[in-house]
Amino acid sequence: MTKKVSVVILAAGHGTRMQSRLPKVLQPLAGRPLLSHVIDTAESLQVSKICLVFGHGAEQVREIYAERDLVWVLQEEQLGTGHAVLQALPELNPDHTVLILYGDVPLVRKETLASLVAAGSEQLAVLTAELDNPTGYGRIIRDIDDHLLAIVEERDATEEQKDLREINTGMMACPAGLLAQWLQRIAPDNVQSEYYLTDIIRCAVEDSATVIPVNTDSVAEALGVNDKKQLAEMERLLRNRASNALLEHGVTLVDPDRIDVRGYLRCGTDVYIDVNVIVEGKVELGDNVSIGPNVVIRDTSIASGTRIHANCVIEEAAIGGHCEIGPFARMRPGVEMSDQSKLGNFVEVKKSRIGSGSKVNHLSYIGDTTIGEKVNVGAGTITCNYDGANKHPTIIGDGAFIGSGVELVAPVEIGPGATIGAGSTVTKTAPSGELVIERSRQQIIRGWKRPTKAIPQKSKK
Ligand code: UD1
Ligand code: CA
Repeated sequence: MTKKVSVVILAAGHGTRMQSRLPKVLQPLAGRPLLSHVIDTAESLQVSKICLVFGHGAEQVREIYAERDLVWVLQEEQLGTGHAVLQALPELNPDHTVLILYGDVPLVRKETLASLVAAGSEQLAVLTAELDNPTGYGRIIRDIDDHLLAIVEERDATEEQKDLREINTGMMACPAGLLAQWLQRIAPDNVQSEYYLTDIIRCAVEDSATVIPVNTDSVAEALGVNDKKQLAEMERLLRNRASNALLEHGVTLVDPDRIDVRGYLRCGTDVYIDVNVIVEGKVELGDNVSIGPNVVIRDTSIASGTRIHANCVIEEAAIGGHCEIGPFARMRPGVEMSDQSKLGNFVEVKKSRIGSGSKVNHLSYIGDTTIGEKVNVGAGTITCNYDGANKHPTIIGDGAFIGSGVELVAPVEIGPGATIGAGSTVTKTAPSGELVIERSRQQIIRGWKRPTKAIPQKSKK
């Protein structure tokens, strides 16, 4: 019978090298905190519980993960990784295998952790990797028979040890009982005066217990993030992975180095994406969708054949098929566009529905509005949806025609087929099929002369 697994995630450290007020484990990678990557991977394994050791930035960490099924372990003083795991001991069932993960090592894969757990069910197993540049990592020390002897931190290493390229990823699996015994024996006798988790290797060796190295040949899995440079490098790595996956799927990327997918992007066939596009959260693009340059899209679905022109910002929208949007359109959250509708230049829309075949083509603000089918909204139309205290709705019926420069003072309703004359300020219901004009009559002053510029008098000497 396979043993049950408890996970301990270390996330209490200062992360001083980040030079930031935001705790290290909350620094964003591909649009979500480093720690979220680790928690998500832990959750994808079949485990009994996940203990999160937290401390630095405690309130922020607690707030972000309040809804998750985690056992919260407070490490009040950050005295080292060994001390951190020690805090979680009371939560660990002695019969379980303990899997230790680091909140700042985010790219480890579920499959690798499963092998680590399998190796660590009876003895201590350590996940190691070979790096071309091992600087900053604990080095794996082996004896002449290749048995694992110790892990030496960079700061405590001799020049000879620093040349070793096999490193400790930090991740380990071990029977809880053994882990408890060894953790009680470690001492802060090193350059940093910290309790190093890595010292349990020495304890195991002292007890003639085998330590099993589990090697990963994917360098990415081993990478820890300690500073902004490493964070940027990892972001680039994920960016490359995402664009490669899109290219393999048949998406046309004008420049694979100039698209940022910080979340999940699902594409149909023959999708075209121009340069400098940023995708956040969950975005779905149907067949033949085309995205112009410099577009930001977050949590949005776009159906087949729709074209997004340059420089649009689109958040939380549901966009139908064969629509045209932009250039320079701003879609704030909560907009639904039906098939074949259009949003043009310098148009801002929020929390509104735009019916099929309707157009809002130039310089408008549309908020809290329901627009029916085949409506034309003229240039510069503003829905005045806010009275300073509350928001009010505007309803525009099918086939209505709103002239240019119109203000629709909400709450207000424009009936189907109604026409609103340009420049009107509409405060009452416009009956269906009728023409409504609200503006003063034009006057003609015949023979009026423009003032002429006065000729300056020569000054007398
Ligand atoms: C650690 C390992 C090193 C390994 C590297 C891999 C030790 C002593 N060193 O070094 O061998 O190569 O990770 O990335 O374990 N933390 C706490 N409480 C503490 C201290 C740290 O929860 O008191 C957490 C941190 O938030 C972080 C993780 O433990 O998520 C690792 O700490 P960090 O200081 O980054 O260790 P490294 O110097 O990278
Ligand atoms: Ca680290």
